[in-house]
Amino acid sequence: MCGIVGYIGEKNAQQIIVEGLRKLEYRGYDSAGVAVWTGTELLLDKAEGRLAVLEERLRQKPLSGSLGIGHTRWATHGKPSDENAHPHTDQSGAFAVVHNGIIENYLAIKEELLAKGYTFKSETDTEVIAHLLADMYDGDLVSTVKRAVQRMRGAYALGIMSAHEPDKLVAVRLASPLIVGVGSGENFIGSDIPAILEHTRDVYILNEGEMAVLTRSGVELLSVESGERIERELFHVEWDLVQAEKGGYDSFMLKEIFEQPQAVRDTIGPRIDEANKRVVLPELKMSDEELASFDRIYIVACGTSMHAGLVGKELIEKLTRVPVEVAIASEFRYRDPIVTPRTLMIVISQSGETADTLAALREAKQKGVKVLAITNVVGSSVSREADEVLFTWAGPEVAVASTKAYTSQVVVLYLFGLYLAQAKGTQTTEQIAEVVEQLQQLPAKITAVLQDTDGVRRFAESIKDVTSLFFIGRGLDYAVSLEGSLKLKEISYIHSEAYAAGELKHGTLALIEEDVPVIALVTQPDLYDKMISNIVEVKARGARVLGFAQEGDTELAKTVDQVVHIPATLPFLSPVLTVIPLQLLAYYASVARGNDVDKPRNLAKSVTVE
Ligand code: AGP
Repeated sequence: MCGIVGYIGEKNAQQIIVEGLRKLEYRGYDSAGVAVWTGTELLLDKAEGRLAVLEERLRQKPLSGSLGIGHTRWATHGKPSDENAHPHTDQSGAFAVVHNGIIENYLAIKEELLAKGYTFKSETDTEVIAHLLADMYDGDLVSTVKRAVQRMRGAYALGIMSAHEPDKLVAVRLASPLIVGVGSGENFIGSDIPAILEHTRDVYILNEGEMAVLTRSGVELLSVESGERIERELFHVEWDLVQAEKGGYDSFMLKEIFEQPQAVRDTIGPRIDEANKRVVLPELKMSDEELASFDRIYIVACGTSMHAGLVGKELIEKLTRVPVEVAIASEFRYRDPIVTPRTLMIVISQSGETADTLAALREAKQKGVKVLAITNVVGSSVSREADEVLFTWAGPEVAVASTKAYTSQVVVLYLFGLYLAQAKGTQTTEQIAEVVEQLQQLPAKITAVLQDTDGVRRFAESIKDVTSLFFIGRGLDYAVSLEGSLKLKEISYIHSEAYAAGELKHGTLALIEEDVPVIALVTQPDLYDKMISNIVEVKARGARVLGFAQEGDTELAKTVDQVVHIPATLPFLSPVLTVIPLQLLAYYASVARGNDVDKPRNLAKSVTVE
């Protein structure tokens, strides 16, 4: 995820900023840059690659001054490169901008600026902001930023400085995190607390729609919309550096679980045509005709990404009636699959570097199959080698156990399924609009799930000493069960199996005895009665059952020992919500057993060997 650091004071800005960026390295990045006001001009340097590359350049040609902004970029719009690295400046070089997040309507603004004669050096949405500021500047930086920001839609955090007013640093927050550090005769901005912790522990945490104007002697907080001053108490940070990197959470996994509302919002955000409630995927190069011509889809991936594919299969088939087969990459690559020119292959990989997935992709391409990649890492091998790419905008995932990548992958699959349905005409405009509206409500519903975790925590603590347990579900609930079971296995080391509930009686029921925990997912109305029958079967053998149902369900509690409710949504969107308590269940069970949640034994984050 991108990192922002800014400084205004009396000391060497370049040094403070580079040190701050180093503290944000754990978030992942692919390029870095710094801009400094030297006293006479605004100079910058930026470079693709590690921070060390930039540092070497700065060693040879330092930027000397006491006002500056810096950035580590995790590529979104445009590949990792020197040109696309931040800060970005306008044509005159008077405005410099660093930016985290996404400006959804940047293309419309860019076209307007192009028509006025502005020329662009990068492929980024951020550069648009620098030109827009120059275009709108009226002699007052603060009021210009306020007016410019009101034109920008999206989720972002900005750090801005200008050669016209080199006594100020302006910060703006809309949805992406940003903090202001308050020192004595110096002030700071940072996208995360570790960036400034060495210099001050007193911070303002900006809320959505707020901006901060920093001078050497003070900080003013303002509402972007009304321009009114905001009074806020300083927050005194007690965390040490390691705690601060985890945002105050006990582990990266927990932090990433709690980042899911943001990850899902960012992934959906730029891909909805609000006026018509339809999906737009401008990043796809293929035409609607080509898309509509596919009559068979393979989804190929490993582990959690493959489980996202299982959800994708159900929903793409439902929306488009195109048959979808999900394959484990390590199997697919050796299997001589049946393909035709009308076959589409979708590969899913958080890292974009998984060896088996990459090999399957290459195998398919050799057979002339069109490959669409869903990945979280711009510039990854999968993203470079696939014909088409849809990125998940989840930000870097540090914990080995994948959480926010899964929900973002599932969301991209919904978007793609809807887009394919639009191209094929298999759903009406009204049906598409209904799903889109419900999709947009998911981030708020994930937040609601995350606010009520007591039931799951209690159950997790109760299973800490069991040796084996079962997940059961049907249809989409079965697909989510597989992911819940994998999560539990990999970080708690408790043996678990996920079963299609109707399949239990064909063998596995023999393992159900007194007090064996069974986790039953019951969110699909069409399969509700069948699930109740399966739960009764395991209860009759003495199982202790935790059930998951949609809000409003009062029946399940009569059959199971404990119920966890998830917010009501369209049944076919429920996987995005149901998986969250399952992730938490694995997390709490792992903590209760004293395991290292972020680094489970024998596992690596990215499996780059066969
Ligand atoms: C899940 O928690 C694991 N980290 C693992 O199953 C992972 O999803 C799998 O190795 C695939 O990784 P990828 O998405 O980076 O390709």
